[in-house]
Amino acid sequence: MKTKLIAPSLLSADFGNLQRDIEMLNNSQADWLHVDVMDGRFVPNISFGFPVMKTIQQHAKKFVDVHLMIVEPEKYVEEFIDYGADLVSVHYEACTHLHRTINLIQSKGVKAGVVLNPSTPVLMLEDIIADVDLVLLMSVNPGFGGQKFIENTYKKIAETKDLILSNNSTALIEIDGGVNLDNASKLFEAGADVLVAGNAVFSTENPARTIEFLKV
Ligand code: DX5
Ligand code: ZN
Repeated sequence: MKTKLIAPSLLSADFGNLQRDIEMLNNSQADWLHVDVMDGRFVPNISFGFPVMKTIQQHAKKFVDVHLMIVEPEKYVEEFIDYGADLVSVHYEACTHLHRTINLIQSKGVKAGVVLNPSTPVLMLEDIIADVDLVLLMSVNPGFGGQKFIENTYKKIAETKDLILSNNSTALIEIDGGVNLDNASKLFEAGADVLVAGNAVFSTENPARTIEFLKV
């Protein structure tokens, strides 16, 4: 997969005009569509589930990146894949049998990612890094869009990069939370491959233009 990718988060889209916003992203330089699923248990917020996923499947032309912020994600990964997910990421903190869940996702022919909360050390990935397609580092505490970026993320990017190299892993590094026009290029320089951006894209007058600016 090529790197320096932008994944706008639909969490900040206008749900009354979801089709319009997805079509805007289809016609933009966005690489992936980031889909945030929250259950009100793993995170203190509820976002959306399968009916919205169905709308995304009907209209999205880009790679669909599903971020599950739910307990027991293994119960639902297959259904998200049936609804068109190209990549499913599950939280390290939500998976008792992470290796099994990663294998389950990949056995369905899609990519599998593991997500770390800001307080979870990168070294917890030592025995799974060779098996995952992506590491998603949370740069805010998950649950809400529009939060402030946590600066410690830069250190975690460097640690993740080292772990990937020392294990001959092909995993990409994705950053999620508080990404904006001020930190995007610094994050790419630090080693990020994919940047999620919700508020930074959808709060602007011209989201497609903002996506272009996030890439430079
Ligand atoms: C937070 C979600 C993020 C969120 C990012 O729990 O995982 O994907 O949409 O939003 P911004 O870019 O607004 O911080
Ligand atoms: Zn997310």
